[in-house]
Order: sequence, then structure tokens, then C-alpha cells
Amino acid sequence: MSEEIPNTSALTSVADNVSLAGKVAIVTGAARGMGACTVRRFHECGATVVFTDILDDDGKALADELGDRVAFIHHDVADESGWVDLVVETERQHGHIDVLVNNAGILKFNSIVDTPLEELQLLLNVNLIGTFLGMKHVIPAMKRAGGGSIVNLSSTEGLGGTLFCGAYTATKFGVRGITKVAAIENGADKIRVNSVHPGGIDTPMTRAVMGQEGRDYVAKHVHGLKRMGEADEIAKLIVFLASDLSSYCTGAEFVIDGGATANAGF
Ligand SMILES: NC(=O)c1ccc[n+]([C@@H]2O[C@H](COP(=O)([O-])OP(=O)(O)OC[C@H]3O[C@@H](n4cnc5c(N)ncnc54)[C@H](O)[C@@H]3O)[C@@H](O)[C@H]2O)c1
Repeated sequence: MSEEIPNTSALTSVADNVSLAGKVAIVTGAARGMGACTVRRFHECGATVVFTDILDDDGKALADELGDRVAFIHHDVADESGWVDLVVETERQHGHIDVLVNNAGILKFNSIVDTPLEELQLLLNVNLIGTFLGMKHVIPAMKRAGGGSIVNLSSTEGLGGTLFCGAYTATKFGVRGITKVAAIENGADKIRVNSVHPGGIDTPMTRAVMGQEGRDYVAKHVHGLKRMGEADEIAKLIVFLASDLSSYCTGAEFVIDGGATANAGF
């Protein structure tokens, strides 16, 4: 299928249309996958980007490649004291924080009866508690900055059920819900909070857990566009939500799934 996928990264420069100049952004889980694409697009659009991950080699390589206005910091999103340090250090170095992308996530497939409790707790810690902690510690900094934009990565599994995705689905419904509460709690301080709901995207995550056969099945039978999405296609939506172009968007669900949720399943 790969030869049928358009090279979306070769589309026109996003920076021709969107500016993030002057903004300081934190992106979590961004050493690879759609987080790394988001770092690249933010950098292209003029932002200063501090990105985090637990994969140090990949993170340092991306930071070295992009150079100016980009820094990698090792951080596990479930570590609350690490969030405190990250916010203090980012404000000390760059003065303010304007954008937060809670992107770090883990996916595991298991039926509910076969899911070890530890697996559910791991996914809750990274996907939901990581997002909660990010908002808890960055929102005060955004208030000091006079406003901001938070983008939380949910999923189509935050909108409906998928077989053998019970733990993951629970976390992504949680992300969708807490996004709305954060939006209504912080709108008066000019902080916007939105959730993004990708379908099956071609990243190391899906390559690790789905295999080629599973990915081909999803492309053919689940997605209206008959292909997996590209990580950069998600990054471009995140750029829009981070930018002032989306100034009236908050508490909303941005579905980007190649038509997956348009499919009633028959
Ligand atoms: N790929 C898809 O099809 C898809 C679909 C819907 C939603 N999503 C969501 O999008 C986000 C990005 O997914 P991706 O496909 O790029 O995955 P990915 O596995 O390629 O990237 C996720 C990154 O998160 C990092 N990470 C994991 N645990 C962490 C922790 N405790 N602290 C900090 N970083 C941690 C990983 O090291 C990795 O670099 C995730 O939240 C995922 O659930 C992905």
C-alpha cells in the first residue's frame, strides 16, 4: 500500500500560512512519531520548542538536527516533580509558555478479561495522568503569560469502542472529558484546550502493535480514504490548534481519521 500514500510532508510549507513566531511550546513524547512531526512543524513555523520523552537517543538526535530554538529534556510524563522542573526551567530559559501538546501515549491490545491490572494502570499513568499533570502545571504558567493553547492527544478510541482496546479506550475517553473541563475552567484566562482524535496513523506505535496485516486491514476496511494516516497530517492540525488561527476553538473534539468514524461498521 505504501506507494499509494501521498508524500504529505512535501506539501507546501505550513509556515507560508501559519506563524508561531514568538510562541514557546512544550510537546511531550516527541522523540518520534507524530510528536516529532509536531516539533518539526512548530520549528518551521517559528516557535521555540521544548520537547520531552523517555527515549533519550532519538530525542537528542532530533534536537541536534533542528538546532536553534529546540531543546530536548528527558521527562516521564507521569512524574509530577519532573513537570515542576520542566515548567520552571522553560520559563527561566524562554520567559513564558504559550503552547502545550500532551502527546505522549502508550497503546496495548488486550481483551478486558485478559488485561492485567498493571497494564491498565500503566496506560492510565501515561495517557491520562500525564495529560492531567501537564495541564495542572502548565496552566499557571499560561496564566502568567496572558493565555495559551493546549492540545491533548485523544484518539478515535476516545469517541467509541474498538475491540481489545479497553484500557486504551478508557484513557482516551478520560483525555476527551478532562479537555472539556480544562477549557471551561480556563477560558476567562484566554487559555484554549482542545482534543485531537486521530484514526490509524502510520507511526512506530502502530507498527509495533498491529503488524503489516493489521494495518492493511484497517486501511482497507476502517478508513474511508483507504489508507493509514501520516504523522505529519496530524502535526499540521496541531499547528492550527496551537496558532491564533484557531482563536475561537476551545473544548472541542478535532477528528482526523480518514473517515473511520463515518463508518457505521456494516
Ligand atoms: N498512531 C496512531 O494510530 C494513533 C491514533 C490515535 C491516537 N494516537 C495518540 O497519539 C499520540 C502519539 O502517538 P504515536 O503514534 O506518535 O506514538 P509513538 O509511540 O510513535 O510516540 C509516542 C511517544 O511517547 C513516548 N512516551 C511513552 N511513554 C512515555 C512517558 N511515560 N513519558 C514521556 N514520553 C513517553 C514514547 O517514547 C514515544 O516517543 C499518543 O498519545 C497516541 O495514543 C495515536
